[in-house]
Amino acid sequence: MLLELPKHAEIFGCVKFHEIQKVLKFESEAFESPLLKGITKDEMDEVLCRMVVVVPVKNEKLHLLDGVLRSIPTGCDIIVVSNSQRGENDIFRMEKDVVSSFHRVTKHPVAIIHQKDPGLGIAFKEAGYTEILDDTGFVRDGKAEGMVIGLSLAKSTGKDFVCFVDADNYIPCSVNEYIRLYAAGFIISQSPYSMVRLHWKYKPKVMEDRLYFRKWGRVSEITNRYLNLLISIHTGFETNIVKTGNAGEHGMTIKLAEIMAYSTGYSVEPYQLVYLLEEFWKGETKFKEAVNSGIEVYQIETMNPHVHEDKGDEHIREMLLGSLSTIYYSKLANDMIKKEITEELKKNEMIKRKGELKKNRILPPIKGMNIEKFVETLLDYSETLTMLSKEA
Ligand code: GDD
Repeated sequence: MLLELPKHAEIFGCVKFHEIQKVLKFESEAFESPLLKGITKDEMDEVLCRMVVVVPVKNEKLHLLDGVLRSIPTGCDIIVVSNSQRGENDIFRMEKDVVSSFHRVTKHPVAIIHQKDPGLGIAFKEAGYTEILDDTGFVRDGKAEGMVIGLSLAKSTGKDFVCFVDADNYIPCSVNEYIRLYAAGFIISQSPYSMVRLHWKYKPKVMEDRLYFRKWGRVSEITNRYLNLLISIHTGFETNIVKTGNAGEHGMTIKLAEIMAYSTGYSVEPYQLVYLLEEFWKGETKFKEAVNSGIEVYQIETMNPHVHEDKGDEHIREMLLGSLSTIYYSKLANDMIKKEITEELKKNEMIKRKGELKKNRILPPIKGMNIEKFVETLLDYSETLTMLSKEA
Protein backbone atom coordinates (compact mmCIF):
# COMPACT_ATOMS: atom_id res chain seq x y z
CA MET A 1 0.00 0.00 0.00
CA LEU A 2 1.21 3.48 -0.82
CA LEU A 3 0.18 5.94 1.84
CA GLU A 4 0.74 9.65 2.36
CA LEU A 5 2.57 10.36 5.60
CA PRO A 6 0.97 13.06 7.73
CA LYS A 7 2.51 16.45 6.97
CA HIS A 8 1.21 18.07 10.08
CA ALA A 9 0.21 17.09 13.61
CA GLU A 10 -1.14 18.97 16.61
CA ILE A 11 0.16 18.02 20.02
CA PHE A 12 -1.91 18.08 23.20
CA GLY A 13 0.19 16.95 26.15
CA CYS A 14 1.42 13.49 25.19
CA VAL A 15 -1.30 13.04 22.55
CA LYS A 16 -0.47 13.69 18.93
CA PHE A 17 -3.38 14.17 16.49
CA HIS A 18 -2.14 13.66 12.93
CA GLU A 19 -3.90 15.34 10.05
CA ILE A 20 -5.72 13.31 7.41
CA GLN A 21 -3.61 10.99 5.27
CA LYS A 22 -4.68 9.65 1.90
CA VAL A 23 -4.19 6.24 0.34
CA LEU A 24 -2.47 6.63 -3.00
CA LYS A 25 -2.40 2.99 -4.10
CA PHE A 26 -3.58 -0.27 -2.60
CA GLU A 27 -0.33 -2.09 -3.42
CA SER A 28 3.27 -0.95 -3.30
CA GLU A 29 6.92 -1.91 -3.11
CA ALA A 30 8.87 -1.01 0.04
CA PHE A 31 9.38 2.73 -0.15
CA GLU A 32 10.04 5.56 2.25
CA SER A 33 10.31 9.31 1.80
CA PRO A 34 9.39 12.16 4.15
CA LEU A 35 5.99 12.37 2.46
CA LEU A 36 5.18 8.78 1.47
CA LYS A 37 5.39 5.26 2.82
CA GLY A 38 5.20 2.15 0.66
CA ILE A 39 4.10 -0.88 2.67
CA THR A 40 4.76 -4.31 1.22
CA LYS A 41 2.38 -7.26 1.35
CA ASP A 42 4.69 -9.08 3.79
CA GLU A 43 4.82 -6.12 6.17
CA MET A 44 1.04 -5.83 6.02
CA ASP A 45 0.48 -9.59 6.56
CA GLU A 46 2.74 -9.57 9.61
CA VAL A 47 0.58 -6.91 11.30
CA LEU A 48 -2.73 -8.46 10.21
CA CYS A 49 -1.74 -11.67 12.05
CA ARG A 50 -1.48 -9.64 15.28
CA MET A 51 -4.95 -8.18 14.93
CA VAL A 52 -8.40 -9.03 16.28
CA VAL A 53 -11.36 -7.64 14.36
CA VAL A 54 -14.50 -7.08 16.43
CA VAL A 55 -17.82 -6.93 14.58
CA PRO A 56 -20.68 -5.54 16.71
CA VAL A 57 -24.04 -6.52 15.27
CA LYS A 58 -27.66 -5.91 16.12
CA ASN A 59 -30.41 -7.17 13.82
CA GLU A 60 -28.61 -6.43 10.56
CA LYS A 61 -29.34 -8.14 7.25
CA LEU A 62 -27.57 -11.50 7.32
CA HIS A 63 -26.36 -10.88 3.80
CA LEU A 64 -24.41 -7.86 5.00
CA LEU A 65 -22.87 -9.64 7.99
CA ASP A 66 -21.83 -12.47 5.67
CA GLY A 67 -20.16 -10.02 3.25
CA VAL A 68 -18.32 -8.29 6.08
CA LEU A 69 -16.94 -11.59 7.45
CA ARG A 70 -15.77 -12.75 4.02
CA SER A 71 -13.89 -9.53 3.39
CA ILE A 72 -11.79 -9.62 6.56
CA PRO A 73 -8.17 -10.33 5.57
CA THR A 74 -6.63 -13.71 6.34
CA GLY A 75 -4.60 -13.71 9.54
CA CYS A 76 -6.93 -11.57 11.65
CA ASP A 77 -9.00 -13.24 14.36
CA ILE A 78 -12.69 -12.30 14.27
CA ILE A 79 -15.04 -11.78 17.21
CA VAL A 80 -18.71 -11.14 16.46
CA VAL A 81 -20.58 -9.58 19.38
CA SER A 82 -24.29 -9.75 18.75
CA ASN A 83 -27.15 -8.03 20.51
CA SER A 84 -29.69 -9.33 18.03
CA GLN A 85 -33.15 -10.57 18.72
CA ARG A 86 -33.65 -13.94 20.45
CA GLY A 87 -36.87 -15.87 21.02
CA GLU A 88 -39.29 -16.99 18.35
CA ASN A 89 -37.61 -15.18 15.48
CA ASP A 90 -34.10 -15.97 16.68
CA ILE A 91 -31.86 -13.72 14.59
CA PHE A 92 -28.85 -14.60 16.73
CA ARG A 93 -29.27 -18.28 15.79
CA MET A 94 -29.25 -17.29 12.11
CA GLU A 95 -26.11 -15.21 12.65
CA LYS A 96 -24.49 -18.25 14.23
CA ASP A 97 -25.37 -20.22 11.09
CA VAL A 98 -23.78 -17.55 8.92
CA VAL A 99 -20.64 -17.64 11.07
CA SER A 100 -20.48 -21.46 11.02
CA SER A 101 -20.84 -21.76 7.26
CA PHE A 102 -18.27 -19.00 6.78
CA HIS A 103 -15.86 -20.94 9.00
CA ARG A 104 -16.67 -24.34 7.45
CA VAL A 105 -15.63 -23.11 4.02
CA THR A 106 -12.79 -20.75 4.90
CA LYS A 107 -11.38 -22.13 8.20
CA HIS A 108 -10.94 -18.50 9.25
CA PRO A 109 -10.77 -18.34 13.09
CA VAL A 110 -13.96 -16.72 14.36
CA ALA A 111 -15.90 -16.46 17.62
CA ILE A 112 -19.45 -15.29 18.26
CA ILE A 113 -21.22 -14.42 21.50
CA HIS A 114 -24.50 -12.80 22.46
CA GLN A 115 -24.34 -9.59 24.50
CA LYS A 116 -27.12 -10.82 26.83
CA ASP A 117 -25.40 -14.14 27.58
CA PRO A 118 -25.88 -14.66 31.35
CA GLY A 119 -22.32 -16.00 31.44
CA LEU A 120 -21.03 -12.59 30.37
CA GLY A 121 -22.82 -11.01 33.32
CA ILE A 122 -21.26 -13.48 35.74
CA ALA A 123 -17.82 -13.20 34.13
CA PHE A 124 -17.72 -9.39 34.23
CA LYS A 125 -18.85 -9.48 37.86
CA GLU A 126 -16.18 -12.02 38.83
CA ALA A 127 -13.54 -10.00 36.97
CA GLY A 128 -14.50 -6.84 38.87
CA TYR A 129 -15.97 -4.90 35.94
CA THR A 130 -19.55 -4.34 37.04
CA GLU A 131 -20.02 -0.91 35.41
CA ILE A 132 -21.13 -2.64 32.19
CA LEU A 133 -23.97 -4.49 33.93
CA ASP A 134 -27.57 -3.43 34.48
CA ASP A 135 -29.51 -3.96 37.72
CA THR A 136 -30.40 -7.53 36.75
CA GLY A 137 -26.78 -8.53 36.18
CA PHE A 138 -26.85 -8.57 32.36
CA VAL A 139 -24.64 -6.49 30.07
CA ARG A 140 -26.49 -3.33 29.03
CA ASP A 141 -27.61 -2.67 25.44
CA GLY A 142 -25.43 -0.52 23.25
CA LYS A 143 -22.75 -0.61 20.61
CA ALA A 144 -20.07 0.58 23.04
CA GLU A 145 -20.97 -2.20 25.48
CA GLY A 146 -20.61 -4.69 22.59
CA MET A 147 -17.23 -3.19 21.77
CA VAL A 148 -16.03 -3.61 25.37
CA ILE A 149 -17.06 -7.29 25.31
CA GLY A 150 -15.09 -7.67 22.07
CA LEU A 151 -12.12 -5.82 23.52
CA SER A 152 -12.07 -8.00 26.66
CA LEU A 153 -12.07 -11.15 24.55
CA ALA A 154 -9.49 -9.67 22.18
CA LYS A 155 -7.17 -8.92 25.08
CA SER A 156 -7.38 -12.53 26.22
CA THR A 157 -5.99 -13.72 22.86
CA GLY A 158 -2.65 -12.02 23.54
CA LYS A 159 -2.78 -10.25 20.15
CA ASP A 160 -1.56 -6.65 19.82
CA PHE A 161 -4.32 -4.77 18.02
CA VAL A 162 -8.09 -4.54 18.25
CA CYS A 163 -10.15 -3.06 15.42
CA PHE A 164 -13.85 -2.50 14.84
CA VAL A 165 -15.95 -2.80 11.70
CA ASP A 166 -19.72 -2.38 11.55
CA ALA A 167 -21.82 -5.27 10.29
CA ASP A 168 -24.14 -3.19 8.08
CA ASN A 169 -21.66 -2.44 5.30
CA TYR A 170 -22.91 -2.92 1.73
CA ILE A 171 -19.44 -2.98 0.14
CA PRO A 172 -17.36 -5.92 1.37
CA CYS A 173 -14.23 -4.64 -0.39
CA SER A 174 -14.38 -1.47 1.66
CA VAL A 175 -14.18 -3.53 4.86
CA ASN A 176 -11.07 -5.21 3.50
CA GLU A 177 -9.60 -1.77 2.84
CA TYR A 178 -10.51 -0.48 6.34
CA ILE A 179 -8.64 -3.31 8.04
CA ARG A 180 -5.58 -2.83 5.86
CA LEU A 181 -5.62 0.88 6.68
CA TYR A 182 -5.65 0.10 10.40
CA ALA A 183 -2.61 -2.11 9.81
CA ALA A 184 -0.91 0.64 7.79
CA GLY A 185 -1.45 3.09 10.67
CA PHE A 186 0.09 0.68 13.15
CA ILE A 187 3.06 0.16 10.82
CA ILE A 188 3.86 3.87 10.61
CA SER A 189 3.21 4.52 14.28
CA GLN A 190 6.17 5.13 16.55
CA SER A 191 4.27 4.35 19.73
CA PRO A 192 2.73 1.23 21.27
CA TYR A 193 -0.20 3.49 22.20
CA SER A 194 -1.85 4.21 18.86
CA MET A 195 -5.25 4.70 17.38
CA VAL A 196 -6.25 4.71 13.71
CA ARG A 197 -9.53 6.40 12.80
CA LEU A 198 -10.98 6.29 9.31
CA HIS A 199 -12.46 9.12 7.37
CA TRP A 200 -14.62 7.99 4.47
CA LYS A 201 -13.84 9.59 1.17
CA TYR A 202 -17.56 9.68 0.35
CA LYS A 203 -20.78 8.64 1.99
CA PRO A 204 -23.11 8.23 -1.01
CA LYS A 205 -26.80 8.89 -0.75
CA VAL A 206 -29.62 8.41 -3.25
CA MET A 207 -30.94 11.87 -4.14
CA GLU A 208 -34.01 11.71 -6.37
CA ASP A 209 -32.86 9.47 -9.22
CA ARG A 210 -29.10 9.49 -8.83
CA LEU A 211 -26.33 8.66 -6.43
CA TYR A 212 -24.80 11.72 -4.79
CA PHE A 213 -21.33 11.25 -3.29
CA ARG A 214 -21.51 13.32 -0.12
CA LYS A 215 -18.26 14.17 1.61
CA TRP A 216 -19.60 14.43 5.15
CA GLY A 217 -22.22 12.61 7.17
CA ARG A 218 -24.73 14.87 8.91
CA VAL A 219 -23.61 14.01 12.43
CA SER A 220 -19.86 13.97 11.73
CA GLU A 221 -19.79 17.53 10.46
CA ILE A 222 -21.37 18.89 13.64
CA THR A 223 -19.43 16.64 16.04
CA ASN A 224 -16.10 17.55 14.45
CA ARG A 225 -16.91 21.26 14.67
CA TYR A 226 -17.53 21.07 18.42
CA LEU A 227 -14.57 18.79 19.12
CA ASN A 228 -12.34 21.29 17.35
CA LEU A 229 -13.91 24.13 19.31
CA LEU A 230 -13.29 22.23 22.55
CA ILE A 231 -9.59 22.21 21.66
CA SER A 232 -9.50 25.80 20.41
CA ILE A 233 -10.95 27.32 23.58
CA HIS A 234 -7.95 25.93 25.46
CA THR A 235 -5.16 26.65 22.98
CA GLY A 236 -6.46 30.01 21.77
CA PHE A 237 -5.85 28.86 18.19
CA GLU A 238 -8.63 27.85 15.86
CA THR A 239 -8.19 24.32 14.57
CA ASN A 240 -9.88 21.82 12.30
CA ILE A 241 -7.54 18.92 13.07
CA VAL A 242 -10.36 16.60 14.14
CA LYS A 243 -11.99 15.05 11.08
CA THR A 244 -13.01 11.71 12.54
CA GLY A 245 -15.12 12.54 15.59
CA ASN A 246 -17.68 9.83 14.84
CA ALA A 247 -15.33 7.27 13.29
CA GLY A 248 -17.23 4.03 13.90
CA GLU A 249 -14.45 2.34 11.97
CA HIS A 250 -11.32 2.55 14.08
CA GLY A 251 -8.61 0.43 15.61
CA MET A 252 -6.26 0.64 18.55
CA THR A 253 -3.27 -1.10 19.99
CA ILE A 254 -4.53 -3.24 22.87
CA LYS A 255 -2.19 -1.24 25.11
CA LEU A 256 -4.15 1.91 24.32
CA ALA A 257 -7.59 0.25 24.14
CA GLU A 258 -7.25 -1.10 27.67
CA ILE A 259 -6.52 2.31 29.20
CA MET A 260 -9.35 4.07 27.37
CA ALA A 261 -12.72 4.81 28.98
CA TYR A 262 -15.80 4.18 26.85
CA SER A 263 -18.95 6.24 26.65
CA THR A 264 -22.09 4.24 26.21
CA GLY A 265 -23.89 3.58 22.90
CA TYR A 266 -23.05 5.79 19.92
CA SER A 267 -21.22 8.45 21.89
CA VAL A 268 -18.30 6.06 22.14
CA GLU A 269 -16.21 7.43 19.28
CA PRO A 270 -16.31 11.19 20.02
CA TYR A 271 -15.78 10.40 23.69
CA GLN A 272 -12.53 8.58 22.86
CA LEU A 273 -11.07 11.91 21.73
CA VAL A 274 -12.58 13.83 24.64
CA TYR A 275 -11.15 11.23 27.02
CA LEU A 276 -7.65 11.46 25.51
CA LEU A 277 -7.70 15.24 25.91
CA GLU A 278 -9.10 15.16 29.44
CA GLU A 279 -6.85 12.39 30.68
CA PHE A 280 -3.57 12.96 28.83
CA TRP A 281 -3.59 16.69 28.12
CA LYS A 282 -5.37 18.48 30.91
CA GLY A 283 -5.59 15.69 33.50
CA GLU A 284 -3.31 13.89 35.93
CA THR A 285 -3.30 10.40 34.46
CA LYS A 286 -2.13 7.32 36.30
CA PHE A 287 -1.09 5.73 33.00
CA LYS A 288 2.49 7.01 33.07
CA GLU A 289 3.88 4.50 30.56
CA ALA A 290 1.52 5.91 27.93
CA VAL A 291 2.68 9.41 28.80
CA ASN A 292 6.31 8.41 28.34
CA SER A 293 5.69 6.62 25.03
CA GLY A 294 3.25 9.23 23.66
CA ILE A 295 -0.14 8.50 22.14
CA GLU A 296 -0.57 8.73 18.37
CA VAL A 297 -3.94 9.32 16.70
CA TYR A 298 -3.94 8.75 12.93
CA GLN A 299 -6.78 9.77 10.64
CA ILE A 300 -6.76 8.03 7.27
CA GLU A 301 -9.05 8.71 4.34
CA THR A 302 -10.35 5.61 2.57
CA MET A 303 -10.44 5.10 -1.19
CA ASN A 304 -13.76 3.25 -1.05
CA PRO A 305 -16.98 5.07 -0.32
CA HIS A 306 -18.94 4.01 2.77
CA VAL A 307 -22.35 2.59 2.02
CA HIS A 308 -24.27 1.35 5.01
CA GLU A 309 -27.82 0.78 6.17
CA ASP A 310 -29.84 3.97 6.50
CA LYS A 311 -31.44 3.75 9.94
CA GLY A 312 -33.54 6.91 9.65
CA ASP A 313 -33.80 10.30 11.29
CA GLU A 314 -34.47 9.14 14.85
CA HIS A 315 -31.21 7.20 14.78
CA ILE A 316 -29.29 10.26 13.51
CA ARG A 317 -30.90 12.33 16.26
CA GLU A 318 -29.83 9.83 18.93
CA MET A 319 -26.29 9.79 17.57
CA LEU A 320 -26.01 13.58 17.52
CA LEU A 321 -27.41 13.92 21.02
CA GLY A 322 -24.99 11.29 22.34
CA SER A 323 -22.03 12.88 20.55
CA LEU A 324 -22.72 16.45 21.66
CA SER A 325 -23.46 15.35 25.20
CA THR A 326 -19.91 14.00 25.56
CA ILE A 327 -18.59 17.43 24.61
CA TYR A 328 -21.13 19.38 26.69
CA TYR A 329 -20.33 17.42 29.84
CA SER A 330 -16.57 17.32 29.24
CA LYS A 331 -14.40 18.79 31.98
CA LEU A 332 -12.88 20.89 29.20
CA ALA A 333 -16.13 22.56 28.12
CA ASN A 334 -16.74 26.17 29.16
CA ASP A 335 -19.98 28.15 29.31
CA MET A 336 -19.55 29.45 25.77
CA ILE A 337 -19.33 25.98 24.20
CA LYS A 338 -22.20 24.70 26.36
CA LYS A 339 -24.33 27.60 25.18
CA GLU A 340 -23.44 26.94 21.53
CA ILE A 341 -24.26 23.23 21.85
CA THR A 342 -27.59 24.05 23.47
CA GLU A 343 -28.39 26.46 20.61
CA GLU A 344 -27.33 23.86 18.02
CA LEU A 345 -29.64 21.26 19.55
CA LYS A 346 -32.52 23.71 19.89
CA LYS A 347 -32.05 24.74 16.25
CA ASN A 348 -32.31 21.07 15.24
CA GLU A 349 -35.34 20.72 17.53
CA MET A 350 -33.55 18.10 19.60
CA ILE A 351 -34.01 19.76 22.94
CA LYS A 352 -36.32 22.54 24.07
CA ARG A 353 -34.46 24.00 27.01
CA LYS A 354 -31.07 24.14 28.71
CA GLY A 355 -30.26 21.24 31.05
CA GLU A 356 -32.34 18.74 29.05
CA LEU A 357 -29.33 17.01 27.50
CA LYS A 358 -28.76 13.60 29.06
CA LYS A 359 -25.30 12.77 30.38
CA ASN A 360 -23.76 9.62 28.91
CA ARG A 361 -22.76 6.74 31.14
CA ILE A 362 -19.00 6.08 31.12
CA LEU A 363 -17.38 2.64 31.24
CA PRO A 364 -13.94 2.74 32.89
CA PRO A 365 -10.77 1.28 31.31
CA ILE A 366 -10.64 -2.52 31.30
CA LYS A 367 -7.00 -2.38 32.43
CA GLY A 368 -7.99 -3.08 36.04
CA MET A 369 -10.13 -6.06 35.10
CA ASN A 370 -8.97 -9.59 35.81
CA ILE A 371 -8.97 -10.98 32.27
CA GLU A 372 -7.94 -14.53 33.25
CA LYS A 373 -10.84 -14.71 35.68
CA PHE A 374 -13.18 -13.22 33.07
CA VAL A 375 -12.33 -15.86 30.47
CA GLU A 376 -12.28 -18.75 32.95
CA THR A 377 -15.75 -17.78 34.26
CA LEU A 378 -17.12 -17.14 30.78
CA LEU A 379 -16.01 -20.58 29.60
CA ASP A 380 -17.79 -22.12 32.60
CA TYR A 381 -21.06 -20.22 32.36
CA SER A 382 -21.52 -19.02 28.78
CA GLU A 383 -24.61 -20.22 26.94
CA THR A 384 -23.85 -18.67 23.57
CA LEU A 385 -20.08 -18.46 23.05
CA THR A 386 -18.95 -20.37 19.96
CA MET A 387 -15.25 -20.36 19.17
CA LEU A 388 -14.16 -21.81 15.84
CA SER A 389 -10.43 -22.10 15.48
CA LYS A 390 -8.32 -22.74 12.39
CA GLU A 391 -8.26 -26.45 13.14
CA ALA A 392 -11.94 -26.87 14.10
N1 GDD B 1 -23.21 -5.69 19.83
C1 GDD B 1 -23.98 -4.65 19.54
N2 GDD B 1 -24.81 -4.17 20.51
N3 GDD B 1 -23.92 -4.09 18.32
C2 GDD B 1 -24.73 -3.04 18.06
C3 GDD B 1 -25.63 -2.52 19.01
C4 GDD B 1 -25.69 -3.14 20.30
O1 GDD B 1 -26.45 -2.79 21.20
N4 GDD B 1 -26.28 -1.48 18.43
C5 GDD B 1 -25.79 -1.37 17.18
N5 GDD B 1 -24.87 -2.32 16.94
C6 GDD B 1 -24.09 -2.55 15.72
C7 GDD B 1 -24.86 -2.43 14.42
O2 GDD B 1 -25.50 -3.64 14.07
C8 GDD B 1 -23.75 -2.07 13.44
O3 GDD B 1 -23.05 -3.20 13.03
C9 GDD B 1 -22.84 -1.21 14.30
O4 GDD B 1 -23.10 -1.53 15.66
C10 GDD B 1 -23.09 0.29 14.08
O5 GDD B 1 -24.41 0.59 14.44
P1 GDD B 1 -25.42 1.34 13.47
O6 GDD B 1 -26.71 1.43 14.18
O7 GDD B 1 -25.41 0.74 12.12
O8 GDD B 1 -24.77 2.77 13.41
P2 GDD B 1 -24.55 3.67 12.13
O9 GDD B 1 -24.11 2.85 10.99
O10 GDD B 1 -25.69 4.55 11.92
O11 GDD B 1 -23.35 4.55 12.66
C11 GDD B 1 -22.04 4.09 12.58
O12 GDD B 1 -21.26 5.11 12.05
C12 GDD B 1 -21.18 6.27 12.88
C13 GDD B 1 -20.37 7.30 12.16
O13 GDD B 1 -21.05 7.77 11.05
C14 GDD B 1 -21.59 3.68 13.98
O14 GDD B 1 -20.35 3.01 13.87
C15 GDD B 1 -21.44 4.86 14.90
O15 GDD B 1 -20.87 4.43 16.14
C16 GDD B 1 -20.57 5.90 14.22
O16 GDD B 1 -20.48 7.04 15.04
